[in-house]
Amino acid sequence: MKKILDLIGAQVQAAFADAGYEARYGRVTLSNRPDLCEYQCNGALAAAKAYHKAPIVIAEEVLEKLEKLEMFSEVSAVKPGFLNLKLSGAYLVSYLSEIAQSDKLGCGPADSHRKVVLDYGGPNVAKPLHVGHLRSAVIGESLKRICRFMGDEVIGDVHLGDWGLQMGLIIEELKDRQPELPYFDENYRGEYPKEAPFTISELEEIYPAASARSKEDEVFAKRAHDATFRLQNREPGYWALWEHIMRVSVEDLKKNYEKLNVTFDIWKKESDAQPYIPGMIQRMKEKGLAHESQGALVVDVKQESDTKEIPPCMLVKSDGATLYPTTDLATLVEREELFDPDMVLYVVDKRQELHFTQVFRCAKMAGIVPDETELRFLGFGTMNGKDGKPFKTRAGGVMRLETLIGEITQAVYDKVQENRTVDEQEAWEMSGKIALSALKYGDLSNQASKDYIFDVDRFTAFEGNTGPYILYTIVRIKSILRKYAENIGGDPERAELREPVNSSEKALMLLLARFGDVMDQVYRELAPHKLCAYIYELSNTFNSFYHETKILAEQDRDRQSGYIALICLAKQVLEKSIDLLGFSAPDRM
Ligand code: ARG
Repeated sequence: MKKILDLIGAQVQAAFADAGYEARYGRVTLSNRPDLCEYQCNGALAAAKAYHKAPIVIAEEVLEKLEKLEMFSEVSAVKPGFLNLKLSGAYLVSYLSEIAQSDKLGCGPADSHRKVVLDYGGPNVAKPLHVGHLRSAVIGESLKRICRFMGDEVIGDVHLGDWGLQMGLIIEELKDRQPELPYFDENYRGEYPKEAPFTISELEEIYPAASARSKEDEVFAKRAHDATFRLQNREPGYWALWEHIMRVSVEDLKKNYEKLNVTFDIWKKESDAQPYIPGMIQRMKEKGLAHESQGALVVDVKQESDTKEIPPCMLVKSDGATLYPTTDLATLVEREELFDPDMVLYVVDKRQELHFTQVFRCAKMAGIVPDETELRFLGFGTMNGKDGKPFKTRAGGVMRLETLIGEITQAVYDKVQENRTVDEQEAWEMSGKIALSALKYGDLSNQASKDYIFDVDRFTAFEGNTGPYILYTIVRIKSILRKYAENIGGDPERAELREPVNSSEKALMLLLARFGDVMDQVYRELAPHKLCAYIYELSNTFNSFYHETKILAEQDRDRQSGYIALICLAKQVLEKSIDLLGFSAPDRM
């Protein structure tokens, strides 16, 4: 389906051509003076230079052509040469009716239709999921939904961090705590137990304990290092333990992500890329890209146009160990082989930008990914506490995601509790949905690259630019529709749009007509915050309309039907939008 801006643009361009000017001057934009008009065209000003005429003369000539069209209720040419446009009610009704019937509410599909590997989540196995991983999951999930909605094929990969020193630390700590386990005996030839020798809570206690110990105890640190090395060489006992650690952790991670309404298509991990490392390094050497520097293997990636220093990318340390960039390059080899994507998109903390600059340059120079494949890093900022420092628990520790969700849900529940008419179970379900909207909208409504302050009170408020406010608006519409059916016996499905009779009604129509243009921009810029800004404006506009209009008390049935059809469409657009942001609305609140 065509977007409204294109449809208006096509008419204005035709009018320019009709008046004897190049059509391209008829470019239309949303008005920046909503008090004067809805859309505008400034093309006469540019055309004036090319045709050596006064801009107002050109504007008036074009105006004459536009006046004949049914699309506009009002067109005017104002000095120095602007064309101001207002859409006619009849045109809006026909356009909105088409949107309401189209399967994607007037959006997409984008022309690009790409295959995208989306790398998000990125938790580290055996370390508890903390708020730092929250943003990647929340933003990534939303981008996955947005790109899919617009027609891309998206493969969401959690890319588990399963291959680092944390494994060696856990193994050595376990060895000290439970030396009788068979895993540590090199001569053991029996079967290993099917049950893991720890629960997830034990595991989450073991890792920080071991990590702290390694900072004080050099011998232990060395042991953990060796254990990691032995694991990486797939020694059977260590490998069996690693499998236990993985299973227990992944099960817990899945539970946590489910609470966040975040899902992944594949659960690949850093270790999966390890077999690709030798070939990748070989290639780097053959292409003359990798060279030795003080015993390490590095690739120079700086470019002449760099304004800041980009240090060489290290592939192998002098002790033979591989590093984070080595794994990410090998992962790209793997992704090429498995998926041959058009784009690989990484949603990772912006402090890792240098790492990705190095990796992308290496990958392009070595031809690991073809030139036309887009490698894109979407770096996000830090979620801070009210003190402006990275968000922590009251005790100053790292806040676990589960705890955070629990606290927000409790805060919402307390609020819902104040004037509740629903039973206990519904109250908790409702609170869960509202809490998720608070958390996700609070995050997504900020431009991803910016830091933001996490403020439970502000995020859970039912008024203002918050998730709960958007939900409240949807719930309000649901309630009107229920009453329309129950008290008046109307059928919302059969309601038909009518031409607007007041300005808040028209404002709501204009905004709904823009959904396709908004989604187009959100998709191109990978900017969920712009979708948030749109639904906030849409909610405000709906609420003004609601306060000025007696929808249920309207006696003229046709007019009432028009109102109902309009709010049905508003509900559809709002519900689709929050689905793209990754949350949903309750029936009541
Ligand atoms: N596990 C990493 C971390 O916690 C994030 C992984 C991001 N993705 C990647 N391909 N490097 O920092």
